[in-house]
Amino acid sequence: TRLIVFASGTGSNFEALAEYFADRPDVALVGLVCDHKAAPVLAKAEAAHVPTILIDYRAYPTKAAAEAALVARLPQADGLVLAGFMRIIGPTLLAAFPERIINLHPALLPSFPGRSGIADAFAYGVKVTGVTVHFVDAGIDSGRIIAQEPVRMRPDDTLATLETRIHEVEHHLLPTTVDHLIEKGVF
Ligand code: GRF
Repeated sequence: TRLIVFASGTGSNFEALAEYFADRPDVALVGLVCDHKAAPVLAKAEAAHVPTILIDYRAYPTKAAAEAALVARLPQADGLVLAGFMRIIGPTLLAAFPERIINLHPALLPSFPGRSGIADAFAYGVKVTGVTVHFVDAGIDSGRIIAQEPVRMRPDDTLATLETRIHEVEHHLLPTTVDHLIEKGVF
């Protein structure tokens, strides 16, 4: 099974995926797509010997044009895993991988979609938040849910301590969910 990971920033979830599948001859991370040339995830991909594909969306007149150029550069793959990729996927990329793109979100969807799910849940004062893995559709964090894991708020939590626990959950929920999808033949 050949997977491409998309990430925009730190890449701790990319790293978790690379470590989880490192000794699996049946699974290969065949590319890391990144939209920021200064993102730390790029060095992590190089360290893991995963080829990087840098895409500068601003170099294209439209998202469709950028995605068409990107699709042309992607290696052959069975699935795309968005792990901290901070862009909405457009129809061009969706059509190239129908039902084959999943996303990681740091809240219990459909609550707190968007780019600051952890902080939004914390500010709202919910007692339980968590992590979601879902299929990507044309909306924002709106596709069919594949897996969720709750994270309980603690009375002494700060945003920072909550973030730490959310990321810990992400680092095992994402790889195990990907593994499950491979097992079921989705990817
Ligand atoms: C994760 O919390 C993910 O859920 C969110 O962005 C963060 C990416 O973290 N969409 P990292 O780059 O994998 O460390």
